[in-house]
Amino acid sequence: MMQQNKNTFWRQYIITRELREKKNGHKGILLWFTGLSGSGKSTIACYLEQKLYQIGINTYLLDGDNLRHGLCSDLGFNNFDRKENIRRVGEVAKLMVDAGLLVLAAFISPCRKQRRIVRNLFNKNQFIEIFVNTPLSICESRDPKKLYKLARSGKLLNFTGIDSSYEIPEKPEIQLNGEVPVSTLVDKLIKFLNSRNII
Ligand code: ADX
Repeated sequence: MMQQNKNTFWRQYIITRELREKKNGHKGILLWFTGLSGSGKSTIACYLEQKLYQIGINTYLLDGDNLRHGLCSDLGFNNFDRKENIRRVGEVAKLMVDAGLLVLAAFISPCRKQRRIVRNLFNKNQFIEIFVNTPLSICESRDPKKLYKLARSGKLLNFTGIDSSYEIPEKPEIQLNGEVPVSTLVDKLIKFLNSRNII
């Protein structure tokens, strides 16, 4: 995207992320869930957020379906629009992490390069990629929104896994088997966050 604002200058605020983290009692961090539609990303993120809320962590959940009702409502599912979708989400998540929040983002984000661009917006320990690895056949059999059915019938184009590709993460920090019960996966994530002193 063209840089339109050459004559603006970065201002360092007095209240920093470090101060906000100190006040919150935990770090600002982004958990990035990637996987096929129906893999369980949003459900896992939603239950994890509930657990984190219960133990006093300040969180926010960003999810593809919801953001596409507002901030990204002008975007569709061709490669260009998906790229812009992920760019916007990455920038929003960056602000939220700077605000000291533990941010959960659940987006198909099918393109490796786009996920890397988001990763590179953050410090090394601030970005955790979580691959929700659920076979296409399982996602398709779940088909909670009946979108796979539409895509198979040719009435919905550019559907990830059907006529649009999903690039499997090469080195995600965490890989979850999406066929395992959600509560088990949430426990695994809580253990991970504890072991890394994130919470
Ligand atoms: S992404 O590819 O740009 O990361 P995002 O996570 O925001 O996608 O949105 C995915 C959700 O949009 C899916 O869970 C599904 O409900 C809906 N959706 C509608 N059309 C498509 C499509 N062509 N491909 C994938 N998901 C779609």
